[in-house]
Formats: sequence, structure tokens, C-alpha cells
Amino acid sequence: MKFSILLFVAIWIGVSSAERGYFWHLTDLHLEPNYTVTSDPVKVCPSAGDQPVRNPGKWGNYLCDSPGVLINSSIHAMKTILPNPDFILWTGDDTPHIPNEQLGEKAVLDIVEWITSLIIEVFPSK
Ligand SMILES: *[C@@H]1O[C@H](CO)[C@@H](O)[C@H](O)[C@H]1NC(C)=O
Ligand SMILES: *[C@@H]1O[C@H](CO)[C@@H](O)[C@H](O)[C@H]1NC(C)=O
Repeated sequence: MKFSILLFVAIWIGVSSAERGYFWHLTDLHLEPNYTVTSDPVKVCPSAGDQPVRNPGKWGNYLCDSPGVLINSSIHAMKTILPNPDFILWTGDDTPHIPNEQLGEKAVLDIVEWITSLIIEVFPSK
């Protein structure tokens, strides 16, 4: 997979060396589906592990992975900044820092599906 992406980039650069191209690279979004703004420091996000999370904000907290509103806002901001990139590279690491046994396959698939739908909604022709 990595090889085919590199090959594609090499071909693209060769064909359009006289033109300038732009693309988005999305990676390590780490969605935290259970992020909750609450005054209880142990109930804000499972991705903080045992660390208490104080003063969580709407857009997240340093100790937590990304709330959905942050990822949504970021992908809409991409559209505002560069609405028509030549392509989008999305290189994964989408899930929260939670042990695999606690996360499970369904949660992983739900997260990938949610991000996929969001990217398609915002960049329908890419
Ligand atoms: C979110 O919380 C629910 C309810 O506690 C739990 O079943 C689910 O596994 C959690 N999901 C993640 C991704 O932590
Ligand atoms: C996603 O972000 C857009 C742009 O800021 C906003 O209009 C929309 O309401 C947001 N959706 C959700 C579910 O947060």
C-alpha cells in the first residue's frame, strides 16, 4: 500500500512538473467518541487513562484524544482554506489511545466509518 502511494506521487510529480499542485494530508486524528465536558475529572475521556482531566473545553483537552466537534471543525476548515486539492492522503491512526480489549472491532469500524463519511460529505468529488 505504501509503495503504491509513493508510486502515484512520483507519477503525478513527473506529469505535472510545470504546474503547481496541492494536497491535504490527514493523519492521527484519534477520535475520542466518548469525550464529555463534565466537572468530574475521571469521566471526561477514557483516553486519559488514570489521569484526572480538569477544566475540559468544548474543543477538547490536552490529556484527551480529539472530540468529534474538533475533527468536524478541522475538516470543514480544510475546505475553507483549500477547497479543491488535487487529492487527499489519509494515513490513519484514527482511534483513541485506549487498550484494544476495551475498544473492540465494532468501535474501530464505527470510527473509520464516521471519519470516512465526514470526508466524503465535505469533499464529495475527491
Ligand atoms: C464509550 O462508552 C460506552 C459506554 O460506556 C462503551 O460501551 C464504549 O465502548 C465506549 N467507546 C469507546 C470508543 O471508548
Ligand atoms: C461541523 O462543522 C460545520 C462547520 O463549522 C458546522 O456547520 C456543523 O454544524 C458541524 N457539525 C457538527 C455535527 O458538529
